[in-house]
Order: sequence, then C-alpha cells, then structure tokens
Amino acid sequence: MLTWLWQFVKPYKTRLTIAIVALLFTSALTLSLGQGIRLMVDEGFSAGSEQGLADALYITLFIIVLTAIGAYFRFFMVSWIGERVVADIRKKLYKHLLGLPPSFFEDNLAGEIQSRVTTDTTLLQTVIGSSFSFALRNSLTFIGGLTLMFISNIKLSLIVVAVVPVIVFPIIYFGKKVKRLSKQSQDEVASVGAWAGESLLNIKVVQAFTREDLVNQQFSNGAEAAFDVALRRIRYRAFLIALVMIMVMGAVMTMLYIGGTDVISGELSAGDLSAFVFYAIMVAGSLAAVTEVYGEVQRAAGAVERIRELLDTQTDIRSAPIQAEGKQKTADQLPLVKFNQVSFSYPSRPNQMAIKDLSLTVDEGQRIALVGPSGAGKSTLFDLLLRFRDVNTGRILIGGQDVTAMNLQDLRNLYALVPQQPVLFSANVLDNIRFGKPDATKEEVIAAAKAAYAHEFIEQLPEGYDSFLGEQGVKLSGGQKQRLAIARAILRDPKILLLDEATSALDAQSEHLVQQALDVLMKDRTTFIIAHRLATVAHVDAIAVFDHGKLVDMGTHNHLMQHSELYSRLAKLQFREHTAS
Ligand SMILES: Nc1ncnc2c1ncn2[C@@H]1O[C@H](COP(=O)(O)OP(=O)(O)O)[C@@H](O)[C@H]1O
Ligand SMILES: [Mg+2]
Repeated sequence: MLTWLWQFVKPYKTRLTIAIVALLFTSALTLSLGQGIRLMVDEGFSAGSEQGLADALYITLFIIVLTAIGAYFRFFMVSWIGERVVADIRKKLYKHLLGLPPSFFEDNLAGEIQSRVTTDTTLLQTVIGSSFSFALRNSLTFIGGLTLMFISNIKLSLIVVAVVPVIVFPIIYFGKKVKRLSKQSQDEVASVGAWAGESLLNIKVVQAFTREDLVNQQFSNGAEAAFDVALRRIRYRAFLIALVMIMVMGAVMTMLYIGGTDVISGELSAGDLSAFVFYAIMVAGSLAAVTEVYGEVQRAAGAVERIRELLDTQTDIRSAPIQAEGKQKTADQLPLVKFNQVSFSYPSRPNQMAIKDLSLTVDEGQRIALVGPSGAGKSTLFDLLLRFRDVNTGRILIGGQDVTAMNLQDLRNLYALVPQQPVLFSANVLDNIRFGKPDATKEEVIAAAKAAYAHEFIEQLPEGYDSFLGEQGVKLSGGQKQRLAIARAILRDPKILLLDEATSALDAQSEHLVQQALDVLMKDRTTFIIAHRLATVAHVDAIAVFDHGKLVDMGTHNHLMQHSELYSRLAKLQFREHTAS
C-alpha cells in the first residue's frame, strides 16, 4: 500500500520534507514541556520564589509558542499533501474510467464505482492527510515520553509500564465496539435515506398505486432499526465514558500517592513528580492513539486495494495509435461500410449469437434501414460499428480499413449517434447541443436547432437557449429531447449517421417535422436507421430485415413486401394497428 501511495506523494517531496521536520520539531518540543512544568513546580512553588515561577512560565510559554508554529506548518503541509494526493488519485481514476468500454459499466453498478471515486478516496485522504502524521507523532511521543520517564524515575516507570496496558486496552476494546456500532448505524441511516430518495423520486407511481402506507411503513421500520443500533451504541458509549474516568483518574491518583510519598520522604522533587505524571499521561494517550489509527489505516488499505483494482482494469478494445496525416486512408473510397462475415455474442451469453455471420455492404451516402423484431440485434450492430464491443469473428471495414486497425477517436469522430433514449446533461440547452461540437458558435447551434425543428420550442423555454436541463432543470417531453439529440447530431456534421429509433418518442406532427429534419441531415451521409415504424423508412435506399441476429432479407419496401415473409407480416401488423386506431 505504501509503495503504491508513494508514486502519488513523490512529486511533493519538498512539502513532505517540511512536514516531517515540523513533525519532529513539535514532538521534541511537546516532550520538553514536561521540563517546563518541572521548573515551574521546583523553582517556583517549592522554592517559594515568584521570580522562579515567572522565569519558568516564560520558558514554558516560549516552548508553547514554538510548538504552535511547528504545529501550524505540520498541519498545513500534511493536510495539503493529503488533499493534493487524493485529488490526483481521483482525477487519474476518473480519466481511467472514461476510457473503459460501456460493457464494464453494465457489469459494475454505477453506485459501486461512484463510491470508489468518492468514499474510498476520502478514506485515503484521512489516512494520508492526518492518520499517518498522527500515528508518527504519537509513536515519537510514546518512545520519547517512555525514555524520559525511565530517566527521571525507574521505580514509578516500572509501575506505569505494568499498569498502562490494563487501563488502555479495555478502553480500546470498548472504543472499537462503539465505532463498529456507529458505522452500522450510519449504514442503517444511509439505507433508510436511499429508500426515501427512491420512493420520493417515483412519487407518481407510489401515489397512483396508493401505496403511501406501505412505503411509509417500510421507512419507519428502517428508522426504528437505525434507532435501535444507535441505542446500543449509546449504552456502550456511556459506559465507556464512565470507565475512562474511573480508570484514568484512579491511575493518576495512585501514581500521585506513590510518587507523593517519595516526595514527602525527600526521594523525589515535586517538580520531578509533576513532570513524570505529565509524561505518563502522554505515553498512555499516545498508545491509545496509535492503536486507534491502526484500524483506520487498515480500512484505508482496503480502499487502496479497491482503487488499484479499478485502475488495473484494462479495456480489451484496443485503439491503434493516431496515424500520420499522409498515411491515413481517406474514408471516401467505396464501399464505405462493409461487414464481412461478422459474428458476435455477448460475453454474458456466449452460446447465443447476437449477430450471426453478417455480410453487408453499404455504399457511401446510402441510407439503410435496419428493421426486425426487438431483440433481433439492431442496436448491437451500432455497438459494433462504434467499437463499444469487438466482433468475435469476421471484419468490419470502413473505407477499406478494418475498424480494429483504426484509432478509436478517429473512428468515433466519423459518427453521430442519436440514441434510442436521448441523453441530456445537467447543463443549458446551448451546451447540450454543443456537446456534438464543443467549438461551435451560438449561430451554428441555433442553425442546427432550426434544422432539427427545435428552435421554436427552445425559444419558448423560460430562458431560451440558456435554460438549464437535466436533473434540476427544465423538463422536456420525449419528443423535444429527441429533437435536441438530433440537433446535436446535425451540429456534429458526421460522415456516418446512426439513428436508433430517433423518431420513436414523437407524436405524428413532430414526427413529420423531425422526418424532414432527418432528410436534410441524411443528405450526403451514410446513414443507418433503426426503425420500428416501417412508414418512416419507406424512402431509404435499402431495408435490411433482421431476425435473431441474422440478416434475413434485403431490398426496397416494395421488393420486401413481395419477397420477405417477415417484413410483410410486420408491415401488415402495423398497417392494421394504424387503421384500427
Ligand atoms: N448487454 C447485453 N448483454 C447481453 N445480452 C444482450 C445485451 N444487450 C442486448 N443483448 C441481447 O442481444 C440480443 C440483441 O439485442 P439488441 O441488439 O438490443 O436488439 P434490438 O436492438 O434489435 O432490439 C437480444 O437477445 C438481447 O437480449
Ligand atoms: Mg434496440
């Protein structure tokens, strides 16, 4: 764990050195405080000298001021390193995640990954930014304090060494119990919170099914469970407080009694005894502190393990390096897109071929529609084109070049995708459309919105193009979202257009508008359109009919009506639906 962390701390060696020097400095000074106390008692109180007391106080004050200065630098530098290192790890982790294939996120819950980026790194921050320094400081105090104790009085030291574990370990034991319970009660509260969040988010379903009582009951059960755990924690905690008081105070009193008799008999000065008590308390305290952080460091080790695992996850979608300008094959060779005996199965279902032995050539500028029952493999084909997944066998060629031999960014820059579920980010309308081309001017964005027949409704939003979308933003209808997604694709001005049921969420009127927008968009571009409604693909160049991953028929609408049983059946079903409604 330390060697792994070192690579992140290494760049900040200077600050680390300052932190360590400050740490040694403050530890030494803290220990010397004991001598200040000794002077105060012996030269001041016992000698009955005001001057002696004042001198001792000045010295002590001087030590305290130096310690404070040292502590300032120590705390600042150590915390700085902790925050900096965690920010670096977070950034590295996020960048790494962005490069992983979509399939990774299907297998790993988003919440789980998020907690690694946030909770696990926060845990690391506590450890680097405080626990390490805390542990080191207390270890030094422990060793130094113990040494000084033995130097000043061996008899008392031996008694302390025998007694300290008896006091400290029960306290640690109960302390751990309290900690575990408080973690448990946090978990309970978190799960109650998650449940509340989910039911409030879906309040319409809860109320429409009149299940308020059920949901409420579940919530109060959770709240009660959290209370029960908290109660157990409180009991331990109360006991712990009483225990600490009796044990610690009892020990100090005993020490004062034994030491006190030595002072009375003149074997020990009162100042020595005071300094000794000071050291003994420091030694016991630092022992407890070290064992305390030990558990924290262990948890951090677990966090490091999880973060490393994530950073070590490699994508199996390999990108070819960016090719030199001249060597790059131009994508205007015909045929533009060619599937050559392509087969593919999802890793989670190796026996079921999602695409079976597909050979298909799509000329540049051709519009091809993919139709077929749901589950036929149409969306999978888009994933293969975009290289979200790689084929099992066969090749996909674009402009005569195998997609696996292309640079991923270059490949994906050829496309604009209008997905089945339009995705809007928590940003304003302008930036959402601009996602297709970040350097577009506002005029270009407006032109794209107009072409997507989105301009009119955007203008009517409370703040027009500056209206905020996404979670806490303006709500849009399905059709409006889809038109924004289309505007985004128009702005991108791609060579190849991928439309996954782009008009599925539209009403008849806006579908007509969007269809017009799409016609403009599809001009001079190779286009793949996945469509349910066969009416929307009547005027494409070719229709490919898929069933169970196989390309079963291909041709124009008229051709397929006569020659494809599946196509004519689908068409008739839709036609009947149409006339019936
Ligand atoms: N991520 C996935 N993991 C495993 N199987 C999948 C995954 N996505 C789709 N499938 C399966 O692959 C087949 C093709 O799916 P898909 O391409 O989405 O169909 P379509 O878009 O034609 O409705 C279906 O049987 C589906 O269940
Ligand atoms: Mg689909």
